[in-house]
Amino acid sequence: MDNTFLTLLLFLFFFCFLHHPVSASNLHKIKQLNSNHLSQLTSSSPIKYFEVTKPIKLPKASKPCSYHILHHDFGYTYGNPPVLANYTPPSHCSFKKFSKIVLEWKATCEGRQYDRIFGVWLGGVELLRSCTAEPIANGIVWSVEKDITRYKSLLLNHQQNQTLAVLLRNIVDKTYTGVYHVDITIHFHGYPFDVKKTHKTKKFDSLAFRSGFHADLILPISRNLPKNDVLWFEIQNSTDVGVKEFVVPQNAYRAVLEVYVSFHENDESWYSNPPNEYLVANNITDSNPGNGPFREVVVTLDDKVVGSVWPFTVIFTGGVNPLLWRPITAIGSFDLPSYDIEITPILGTILDGKKHLFGFSVTNALNVWYIDANLHLWLDTKSSRTEGELVNHVDKPLVESLVTDFNGLNGTFLTSAKKSILSTGWVRSSFGNITTSFVQDFDYYNSMVMRKNGSKQTVNQIISFNDSIRAKLPSSYLDLVDDTYRKFSLYLDTDELKEDNDTYLAVSNFTLGFDENKSKSKVSGISNSFLKNVQDGQGTMVVKKNLVVSGVGATQQNYRYKSNEHCYSRKIGSSNYTILYDKVKDTCNKRSHSRFGNFIRKFPTML
Ligand SMILES: *[C@@H]1O[C@H](CO)[C@@H](O)[C@H](O)[C@H]1NC(C)=O
Ligand SMILES: *[C@@H]1O[C@H](CO)[C@@H](O)[C@H](O)[C@H]1NC(C)=O
Ligand SMILES: *[C@@H]1O[C@H](CO)[C@@H](O)[C@H](O)[C@H]1NC(C)=O
Ligand SMILES: *[C@@H]1O[C@H](CO)[C@@H](O)[C@H](O)[C@H]1NC(C)=O
Ligand SMILES: *[C@@H]1O[C@H](CO)[C@@H](O)[C@H](O)[C@H]1NC(C)=O
Ligand SMILES: *[C@@H]1O[C@H](CO)[C@@H](O)[C@H](O)[C@H]1NC(C)=O
Ligand SMILES: *[C@@H]1O[C@H](CO)[C@@H](O)[C@H](O)[C@H]1NC(C)=O
Ligand SMILES: *[C@@H]1O[C@H](CO)[C@@H](O)[C@H](O)[C@H]1NC(C)=O
Ligand SMILES: *[C@@H]1O[C@H](CO)[C@@H](O)[C@H](O)[C@H]1NC(C)=O
Ligand SMILES: *[C@@H]1O[C@H](CO)[C@@H](O)[C@H](O)[C@H]1NC(C)=O
Ligand SMILES: *[C@@H]1O[C@H](CO)[C@@H](O)[C@H](O)[C@H]1NC(C)=O
Repeated sequence: MDNTFLTLLLFLFFFCFLHHPVSASNLHKIKQLNSNHLSQLTSSSPIKYFEVTKPIKLPKASKPCSYHILHHDFGYTYGNPPVLANYTPPSHCSFKKFSKIVLEWKATCEGRQYDRIFGVWLGGVELLRSCTAEPIANGIVWSVEKDITRYKSLLLNHQQNQTLAVLLRNIVDKTYTGVYHVDITIHFHGYPFDVKKTHKTKKFDSLAFRSGFHADLILPISRNLPKNDVLWFEIQNSTDVGVKEFVVPQNAYRAVLEVYVSFHENDESWYSNPPNEYLVANNITDSNPGNGPFREVVVTLDDKVVGSVWPFTVIFTGGVNPLLWRPITAIGSFDLPSYDIEITPILGTILDGKKHLFGFSVTNALNVWYIDANLHLWLDTKSSRTEGELVNHVDKPLVESLVTDFNGLNGTFLTSAKKSILSTGWVRSSFGNITTSFVQDFDYYNSMVMRKNGSKQTVNQIISFNDSIRAKLPSSYLDLVDDTYRKFSLYLDTDELKEDNDTYLAVSNFTLGFDENKSKSKVSGISNSFLKNVQDGQGTMVVKKNLVVSGVGATQQNYRYKSNEHCYSRKIGSSNYTILYDKVKDTCNKRSHSRFGNFIRKFPTML
């Protein structure tokens, strides 16, 4: 089979400038507790915070060509538009071919400050969504390194100079003294050998290298500056829709929508929001966010549902108990996951050169969700027009069920949901007539138990889903495959023990899991990867008049990644700001590697 065909398809952040009053009831107060008034820990040097993740695989012995783009001190930036910097594609590198491009966010902060959500965009295309770390008196430092190679066509586009935008809204006053000092650098890596002079030339000159699986063009599906002062859509409720008009080049042959989401204020801990009937029965609708614990981000294209995002429960650095996240931050908090939706089956309906509309809404939303997206497009250089047709589209309605059983503020709530979306369509380009199917199959379960008149809450939630892409080539019995299975799990137990007067002790336990199995066609065959990433934590804090006055947090993490190419695992634990153990292994265990094989599934039967 012609290998070139295989390449064809192949941030409790608390937007906390609003100071929520203590709830009138004694219902547990996850949201109200995450403030950072803690009597300040002192240490002689700044503490380094970090998120545990696998290091980016860089080409051996290649010196990057680095480009410092921005330095800014984010002080009182509340209500301000993003900070801008000019971006010009690198011209000073000694190499012309780029193997990896890495964004480095580096920040320091000292004093007292909340966790703040922020985003980084280039030409309106979001590159990073993240949450700041909460500082201590003597200072902290942290950095985020993100592989942004998939945005290569944008980063290396010499036809157009772009603007880099960073939105980080902070408040500095007598109490909240932390100013975030930020540097953004992009590192461009070449290849460890001269691409032209090796026998590999042929392979690298192939389509695989030229488009390298990465899109030829990326369109921002975000709000335009300077007309708006934020780039993301702010979804306030379940009927609110963020919309964006766009036009695609008429020679596109593949399209993928990458969606960024984060949730704040009343929906920051959406997974622990009780059903409304419970709040109404107990007369606490004013003080406690509700709408139950199920949320779904729905993406439409010209009013047709093209995909959904059932988001990972990112806990921001002030969430549950801020002491849990020092220095090991919660999974995804420094680099929020984005979610890909394959648009290729429906591409035929937008190749007319006219304006079309993406829409974003959130089922059961409370204010506020920040959502935007990037449309990755692959263009057919050998023709000026491609054509296509959507052949089959099934958007099975959401099946949601809720079983409640409560007496006063005690109760048990079981919420479950299921959904699947299927689209099949063909696109004819110079590569031939290719039929692509995209199936999303979601499953959700949440059990919430309230005890001690609502002051003790236990949440157990599992989201699991398959995203499955199949591309049928004209003369091939071999389907191109791109399957992702994800499982997001959360266990959260919080308890409040009343002490004297306005003081209580808050105790919490959590387990947070992010599992992801992938199976993908590559030039070399099928490539599988497997990630199991689990955090456990235990925290206590004494809260007086809604201020955290003392406490301690401990976190343990077990990160395991395996693929055909490499393995990485890390076991690490911390308590009270100190790392207790840290074991890293970056080689594959032969036995387990060989056991790790075929998990390619059959195509779901909906087709
Ligand atoms: C981009 O900016 C650089 C440096 O300011 C300038 O030399 C170049 O001509 C600009 N390119 C475009 C396409 O505007
Ligand atoms: C939902 O939010 C939108 C945008 O803020 C607002 O116009 C609309 O009135 C809200 N709807 C409800 C039912 O609150
Ligand atoms: C609900 O609470 C409000 C304010 O706290 C109070 O005025 C009202 O009487 C309460 N209603 C019931 C039915 O308890
Ligand atoms: C592409 O293939 C599909 C499915 O086989 C077929 O229905 C369609 O007519 C083909 N389109 C073209 C332009 O050949
Ligand atoms: C819970 O509320 C009930 C009824 O209001 C009351 O009798 C009981 O003492 C309360 N228990 C606790 C643990 O707060
Ligand atoms: C709620 O459960 C607690 C024990 O967790 C009990 O002390 C309290 O009386 C119960 N309240 C009601 C209203 O049943
Ligand atoms: C995903 O695929 C697996 C294996 O085919 C299947 O058992 C499961 O039900 C699918 N759906 C979800 C939501 O996991
Ligand atoms: C409760 O607060 C009052 C007023 O601040 C104080 O006089 C009293 O001693 C406190 N009681 C206890 C048990 O701490
Ligand atoms: C935390 O975990 C321990 C041990 O599993 C358990 O005894 C405790 O009840 C849990 N919950 C809280 C809120 O501490
Ligand atoms: C945490 O560490 C600080 C600083 O080393 C120390 O003062 C404090 O006693 C520790 N707290 C606990 C509960 O171990
Ligand atoms: C993910 O892959 C691992 C290793 O092959 C396997 O043990 C696990 O069951 C897989 N999970 C799913 C849901 O396919």
